[in-house]
Amino acid sequence: KKIVLAYSGGLDTSVILKWLKDAYGAEVVTFTADLGQGEELGPARAKAEAAGIREIYIDDLREEFVRDYCFPMVRANAVYEGQYLLGTSIARPLIAKRLVEIAHETGADAVAHGATGKGNDQVRFELGVAALDPALRVIAPWREWDLNSRTKLIAYAEKHGIAVPSDKRGEAPFSVDANLWHTSSEGKMLEDPAEEAFNEVCLLTRHPEDGPDQPEYVTVGFERGDAVSVNGQALSPAALLTRLNEIGANHGIGRLDLVENRFVGMKSRGIYETPGGTILMAAHRGIEQLTLDRGAMHLKDELMPKYAKLIYEGFWFSPEREMLQAAIDHSQRHVSGEVRLKLYKGNVMVVGRSSPASLYSLAHVTFEEDQVYDQKDAEGFIKLNALRLRLMADRKKRLGEN
Ligand code: ARG
Ligand code: SIN
Repeated sequence: KKIVLAYSGGLDTSVILKWLKDAYGAEVVTFTADLGQGEELGPARAKAEAAGIREIYIDDLREEFVRDYCFPMVRANAVYEGQYLLGTSIARPLIAKRLVEIAHETGADAVAHGATGKGNDQVRFELGVAALDPALRVIAPWREWDLNSRTKLIAYAEKHGIAVPSDKRGEAPFSVDANLWHTSSEGKMLEDPAEEAFNEVCLLTRHPEDGPDQPEYVTVGFERGDAVSVNGQALSPAALLTRLNEIGANHGIGRLDLVENRFVGMKSRGIYETPGGTILMAAHRGIEQLTLDRGAMHLKDELMPKYAKLIYEGFWFSPEREMLQAAIDHSQRHVSGEVRLKLYKGNVMVVGRSSPASLYSLAHVTFEEDQVYDQKDAEGFIKLNALRLRLMADRKKRLGEN
């Protein structure tokens, strides 16, 4: 029996590693992804080696993550429940995909993850694995073991010589999930949604009020719906997002305090920091304003909440997400050009856009004299649009309704 474990190197997954060996008598393969979480991955390797693991995978997935997961989501302008930019949700399918690949490479018959039985992440991992290889078994220790309290978990770690971070005996005051797109914090001290928490939690972004007193301008270049440059410099997807994160973090951009509906049914409160992603989403909207036809844009806006919900609920590898993606991607053919944004103390404002594929026609829109638009045409346009409203108003009068 061989199990591939999604291993962060933290306390929880270190305990899981040991527990899998004992409870299942299994050989464990560890997989640690570099998704741009900004953490040293050396310690994860060292800990896995110390635990006697022979097959240790540490993969830099940053470019794939941004190019094949974040960017498609930006093309859709995807936002969950009006505000959440889906940073954790979008990383899970990539981790699931890599878990399955490694299982195939190593001849493992199961994969394991450290998500709890209360959250969204278990669903995302497991729907991903099911879609990619239904024969693989998924083990979720949090749903199986009896280490259901912090105290028991730490006692187990100490008993088995697993390093417990000395600060508050491994007890971070909240649970963090980070990647190049965002940092999310949930749980513990954040569980009272009435209490403000930005000051204790935010590590990535500056407080907006401490941002520079001068605004900063940034230009993002797009080709077919994907960002390709910042301030005229061509950058790879991951390098571009890294750059926008630095710029945005300095101005305190992209903070969110949200109570959201988890797929399993409960509400949870999270603090999110998505500096580069927030700039990118605003910039993408900016370039679409100029280059998307109204019908295409409005249809995209109708589909978007559905698409965002699919990502949130773990259905990345589903036929309906792929159908929506195909439609969204098709719409991006002319979404190319440049957007200029102004950043100031937590705010992102689009202040300019230009495109060789623009549909904006000054000749039509100008309030000065023009040769292309006959204002008299508008009279019939309004008359026919008003027809059914007039008929209904007449009926109201006839029936004496008010
Ligand atoms: N609520 C977010 C989501 O479902 C984040 C979940 C993981 N975050 C964490 N801090 N453990 O996408
Ligand atoms: C977890 O429960 O593992 C994190 C939160 C979530 O998945 O929603």
